[in-house]
Amino acid sequence: MRAMKKIVILISGRGSNMQAIVRAAQNEKWPAEIAAVISNRADAEGCAYAEAQGIPVRVVPHAAFATRAGFDAALQEQIDAFAPDLLVLAGFMRILTPAFVTHYMGRILNIHPSLLPSFIGLATHQQALDAGVKLHGATVHFVTPELDHGPIVAQAAVSVLPDDTEQTLAARVLEQEHIIYPKAIRWFIEGRLSVVENRICHVSP
Ligand code: GRF
Repeated sequence: MRAMKKIVILISGRGSNMQAIVRAAQNEKWPAEIAAVISNRADAEGCAYAEAQGIPVRVVPHAAFATRAGFDAALQEQIDAFAPDLLVLAGFMRILTPAFVTHYMGRILNIHPSLLPSFIGLATHQQALDAGVKLHGATVHFVTPELDHGPIVAQAAVSVLPDDTEQTLAARVLEQEHIIYPKAIRWFIEGRLSVVENRICHVSP
């Protein structure tokens, strides 16, 4: 029997990517379990969904910590209590310290709502509209200490339509996020991802 891999998911809000991952893990019978969902906000909508699914939920409120390092240390302690094989950032809206990222290097993924390396940071859909690009999208990448960088695992593109608003564009990108993030996580769980020189990510068949 294959050993079940453990996944811990970090969220800050709605948690729709987390939900897509939980559903895919159940429906596709991944050899993995969602060991915990951890939020930096007690009122994150996603917490209620995870609880309803019987997934352990923890809250580490960032506002209770004077420093980023203090918050990250407390977060790390909560995460490591579940001994995860993979840490998944799914709409987790905190910048993480290099020490934290280094601790999980090679086993921490993020989804960013743009075609990286374009449009790092926040308000990516507005950035895309302002730039007038015709294609926009989402990227799953390994997390490295530099924000929104790190080896790219998967991307999906959508056309930017002439009458798009930030909201309509975000909704179309989000549909794609819900497809590529579970797919990329499954590749990781199946041991199909390899990173070369911390830069290029290969997916083996
Ligand atoms: C997504 O667009 C994700 O790419 C970004 O934050 C948003 C989170 O949405 N990092 P949700 O909480 O997964 O619904």
